[in-house]
Amino acid sequence: MNASYVSPRRGSVEDPLRTAVLISGSGSGLFALLNHQLSKPSCHVTKLIISDNKKSKGLHYGSKFDIPAFVMELPEVQDKIHRRILHEEAIHNQLIQSDIELVVLSGYMRVLTPTFVKKWKGRLVNIHPSLLPKYPGAHAHRDALADGAKITGCTVHLVDEGVDTGEILAQSETPIFADDTIEILQERVKKLEHLLYPKVLDHYCSK
Ligand code: GRF
Repeated sequence: MNASYVSPRRGSVEDPLRTAVLISGSGSGLFALLNHQLSKPSCHVTKLIISDNKKSKGLHYGSKFDIPAFVMELPEVQDKIHRRILHEEAIHNQLIQSDIELVVLSGYMRVLTPTFVKKWKGRLVNIHPSLLPKYPGAHAHRDALADGAKITGCTVHLVDEGVDTGEILAQSETPIFADDTIEILQERVKKLEHLLYPKVLDHYCSK
């Protein structure tokens, strides 16, 4: 790993890494991770949930699992760049206040600025619903189908300053069938994601 990354400390069952999960939508990946952490002794534990979207269904896992869950939407500021900076500063401050050691992006639909990424590089992971470097960006399933791809999957990767370009930690594959729609493919890939992400975090947090 490049020297500009700061690896998290090694977590253990006795002293698990304090993790924040950032979401934007239904939070099925968050739910899978929380179940995984509860199902057996784990070297990572979710201590904070943040959504940039107040309508995110995944927020209710906060009360269900007794974890602080915050809505942190973009502030109402005219200038777009300033708005983005203020938003990420608020998220960063909350992460620090909650003593977070690892940030897990799980369906978080905003691209983070290089300023934020630099602060968390090596301690910032993402899951993307394609076999990167194929189909980066927000429409991976649409792009895979439009391309006539016969195989797709998901990728867990470290986040760098690019869009879905960071070091790949692991991937999982599935075929694409002739009658697949975006929705069908999304559900099939999510099943893979829910198995892969917790396992990769187990490994990454304990190495
Ligand atoms: C996942 O497929 C993730 O890879 C993508 O958005 C989806 C989020 O789903 N970036 P959910 O909110 O975890 O249900």
